[in-house]
Amino acid sequence: MHFSLVSLFPEFFSSPMQQGLMGRAIEAGLVSYAVHNPRDFSTDKHNKVDDRPYGGGPGMVMLPQPLADVLLHLGHPVREAGAPRLLPNPARPLVHPSPKGKPLTQALARKLTAAKDITLVCGRYEGIDARIEELFAVECVSVGDFVLNGGEAAALCFMESVARLVPGYMGDEESGTEESFSSGLLEYPHYTKPAEFYGLAVPEVLRGGDHGKVARWRRERAMETTLAVRPDIMGEAPLGAEDYAFLQEKPLQRIGKNLFCALVHYPVLDKWKNSVAVSLTNLDIHDISRSSCTFGLGGYYVVTPIQDQQRLLESLLRHWHEGAGKQSNPHRDEALSLVKGVASLEEAIQDITCQCGAAPLVVGSSARAEAESQKAIDFLGVREVLEERPVLLLLGTGHGLAPEACGLCEKFLPPLRWHGRYNHLSVRAAAAIMMDRILGDWC
Ligand SMILES: C[S@@+](CC[C@H](N)C(=O)[O-])C[C@H]1O[C@@H](n2cnc3c(N)ncnc32)[C@H](O)[C@@H]1O
Repeated sequence: MHFSLVSLFPEFFSSPMQQGLMGRAIEAGLVSYAVHNPRDFSTDKHNKVDDRPYGGGPGMVMLPQPLADVLLHLGHPVREAGAPRLLPNPARPLVHPSPKGKPLTQALARKLTAAKDITLVCGRYEGIDARIEELFAVECVSVGDFVLNGGEAAALCFMESVARLVPGYMGDEESGTEESFSSGLLEYPHYTKPAEFYGLAVPEVLRGGDHGKVARWRRERAMETTLAVRPDIMGEAPLGAEDYAFLQEKPLQRIGKNLFCALVHYPVLDKWKNSVAVSLTNLDIHDISRSSCTFGLGGYYVVTPIQDQQRLLESLLRHWHEGAGKQSNPHRDEALSLVKGVASLEEAIQDITCQCGAAPLVVGSSARAEAESQKAIDFLGVREVLEERPVLLLLGTGHGLAPEACGLCEKFLPPLRWHGRYNHLSVRAAAAIMMDRILGDWC
């Protein structure tokens, strides 16, 4: 595999490309690379390679001419005027490491091992002139959601991740298939001698010699690590019946227990923007309790100060907890056991504080995009808060939370599908979507 590097800093690569397995792969002729400096292709009398950006702003932008000439020199076709965009050539990909690219993943690295020669265009300053991406079949690839000084460090990550999957690069081919991401999970912990270190012993199972048990232990540790650190990739891992059985034993550790929701019937707005109390809806009580139970929430408060409505809620719950409903559908009893009727939001907040030993962060939701922007929090932000403290998510009935309820909110979630023309979801549908966005399948 050959890497053609386009870089203003050829020296950058000398040492890293000589070390360890990469150095050996180069010596063995398995991997090769060459650096092409755009400065050598500049037609400017001072070999200029950058200039000020059109439209103003900080920094410099890499000139298109030297870059285009290097790419032509390397044999990459250029798009003719008026012709459609060029498609990437899988045998000769042209990659621009860039924060705005698609993420570099193990799957992408594996796909790229089919290539013979990969060109990497390393940007510097504010980046490269945008027309290069239009003229050549450039694929932008990011090595992470952060900004580096230049594409060289990113190109090194890229080359290493791809080259080490080339057959023959690694001594023991298995070490490539057992690693993080290869099995869809992060890797299990490794231990070596001594058997005890600073009072910490190597897990007994690894010393027992039972390969089946070792494999199971490793798989379970890999699932635990993935669940704790990257629950977002859990869904991609191929899981078997034993894995599901193991994971079902873990729900008590899930941060969903710290999430509570409150369905507010007072104070909410009517269509003339008056603060009013609205009546309970049977469907909302059932459906939000079912979603809350499915997502493993800590509790679901139904807020109404009207005593008649509170009695109605009690009799409804009695039917499912003790009456004919329990006989016909015990699952509903389980879901509705999360429901607590309270007279006010303050009562719900007090109840959570007693239960969790910490006051909840009160987060409002609204279908209107104008919710106070300085109090904005996104769904992942709520997930992060749940690691530390409880969160009470307020769901408004009627025409949404009234100012008195909004006044209790320290944060506001953005409306769902706010950029669409129509976003009139039922509160129970919105509640389920918000729970899914905050917790997903694994939290
Ligand atoms: C200072 S950065 C330019 C950042 C750019 N103005 C922006 O805000 O996205 C200069 C060059 O570093 C490289 N680079 C920076 N961060 C990167 C990342 N996370 N992944 C891949 N390449 C990166 C790119 O080649 C980029 O053109």
